[in-house]
This record gives sequence, structure tokens and C-alpha cells, in this order.
Amino acid sequence: MSLQETLLIQLQENPLNWFLSGFLIYVIYSYLRPVPYSLPIARHTETTVFREYTPKQLREFDGRTLQTKIYMGVCGNVYDVTKGRNFYGPEGPYGNFAGRDASRGLAKNSFDMDVLTPIDQPLDTLEDLTRDEIESLNDWHGHFTGKYQLVGKLINDPDIS
Ligand code: HEM
Repeated sequence: MSLQETLLIQLQENPLNWFLSGFLIYVIYSYLRPVPYSLPIARHTETTVFREYTPKQLREFDGRTLQTKIYMGVCGNVYDVTKGRNFYGPEGPYGNFAGRDASRGLAKNSFDMDVLTPIDQPLDTLEDLTRDEIESLNDWHGHFTGKYQLVGKLINDPDIS
């Protein structure tokens, strides 16, 4: 008796063999079928485009929400101080500097709002600072340059003269 005849008899005698045969075929097929090749989705790391900020544009980056980046102006440069959210977030001790040109406050070691130039006025020229204040500001500037990413430059609002 041939193998085919034996298999046929086995299938006729016990219907369970139909099920087992189907299962066996499925297992063999599962091992042999080509696995679809899928590429992982490429994600670009977050980038920041260096750009110019007027005082009003900088104000948008004052960290009022957790999603918002916190930027700060120092000596005409704009730094991303988001990682210092504990300092510059709304509840932080230096939250007054967030989204603002902080140069004069840093020069005078003061976080009084009065020392910050209103955002609807031209940029602070800092021309009246004393030698000590300039030194203090330069020290702070060094601190920010070393710790935070430079993301832009402060410029005057063209509509304000
Ligand atoms: C009562 C006096 C003050 C105390 C006890 C104090 C305390 C501190 C402490 C503990 C730090 C963190 C230092 C670090 O971990 O690197 C710090 C950083 C700082 N402080 Fe003060 N501070 C005082 C006054 C001021 C004033 C008057 C200003 C105004 C300009 C100021 C501006 C800053 C700034 C800008 C930072 C750097 C935060 C950063 O790294 O992003 N502090 N201060």
C-alpha cells in the first residue's frame, strides 16, 4: 500500500485527522511565509532655527505652559533656558526674566520688574551701566553662554522707533 493510500485511509477513518492535517499545514506555512519587512519610522531630533526676536516675539517664550519653551535675552543674545525651568518657570524665583531681555536685571543683580524694559519700547542700550554693573552682566553672560543654547538675536521691533 502506498503512502498516499495510507494517508487517505487515515483521513477517512478518523475525521480528526483532517483537522490535524490542516493545523500542520498552517504551522509549516507560518514558518515559511516571507515576513513583511518594515522600516522603523524615522524621527528627526528636535531642531531650533536660529532667528531674530523682537521683545514682543521673545515674550511668547515665557514658559506660561509646560509645552512652551523658555527663552531669555542677555546682551543682545537669546538663550533657550527651558532646562532651567525651575529658575525661570512661572513659579521660579527668576520667572520675571522669562521671555524678556534680562540684561539690566543681571547687571544690577535685581529682579525688580521696573528694571526690565517694557516690550513696547526700543531695546535697552545699557549705555548708562557702571563699570561694576557691566562686569556683573558680563559674568552672567558667561554663565548663560556656557550653560544654555544660543537660539537667536534680539532686534528692535521695526514698528517701534
Ligand atoms: C537672596 C539672594 C539670592 C540667593 C540666595 C540666590 C540663590 C541662587 C542659587 C542657589 C542659584 C543656583 C545656582 C546653581 O545651582 O547654579 C542661583 C542662580 C541664579 N540666580 Fe540667584 N540668588 C540670589 C539673588 C539673585 C539675584 C538678585 C539675581 C538677579 C539677577 C539672581 C539671579 C540668578 C540667576 C540668573 C541664576 C542662574 C540660574 C541659571 O543657571 O539658569 N539671584 N541663585
